[in-house]
Amino acid sequence: MRKKIIAGNWKMNKTASEAAALIEEIKAELKGVSGVDVVVCPPAIDLKDAAAAVEGSNVGLGAQNIHWAESGAFTGEISASMLTDIGVKYVIVGHSERRQYFGETNETVNKRTKAALAAGLIPLVCVGETLEERDSGQMESVVINQVRESLADLGDDLPSIVVAYEPIWAIGTGRTATPAQAQEVHALIRRTLAEISSGNVANIVRIQYGGSMKPDNAVELLGQPDIDGGLIGGAALQAESFAAIVKAAI
Ligand code: PGA
Repeated sequence: MRKKIIAGNWKMNKTASEAAALIEEIKAELKGVSGVDVVVCPPAIDLKDAAAAVEGSNVGLGAQNIHWAESGAFTGEISASMLTDIGVKYVIVGHSERRQYFGETNETVNKRTKAALAAGLIPLVCVGETLEERDSGQMESVVINQVRESLADLGDDLPSIVVAYEPIWAIGTGRTATPAQAQEVHALIRRTLAEISSGNVANIVRIQYGGSMKPDNAVELLGQPDIDGGLIGGAALQAESFAAIVKAAI
């Protein structure tokens, strides 16, 4: 049985003090809740305050990006040890907004994923097709290619990763994939994982759904056999809606 994982991707929202306050509210909403992994991913500059806020609670802390180098001339980037040093445990890698606006490719996603794993961080590796790709019948080939290339050569670390399937047409649009549409792609991702691994690995890896997941559609989405959690954008910015989704995962 895979443990469900609900992660909030706060994107470029909340100052450090706002982040700490939101985490306090989330902790209050989720007091005593167990059986599901809960993660918040605030902006990088908030992480230190956020680390203090999650301390001793059932809320884990994640970053939104990581560089593959340990240090050096990479202005604006953040290394794995900078994250682990302050208590970060997870990191989102290859979000579609990074692929779309910041030139992220499967190759750089793969490098960032490897750096995260080497440091003991759990990467939440994002894949997903555009509407044009879906409408022109390319969804399967796009997603298979993203999984194969983004997760290439992870070796024994593969079971530690989390995959996030986020159809780009469902992100921030209010247009969520139907549970059947999401399940179909999650099963495809799991079959692809089976092709690139051996033994039981494909059945261990958790696959989150992301894209307009809300309290009112979470139960049905999370009830699908291959949907093991959610990566939540808009609904993660309020403690009540985020907590409602977490509780839907139990
Ligand atoms: P959304 O974002 O829930 O606002 O659609 C999800 C994401 O981009 O991770």
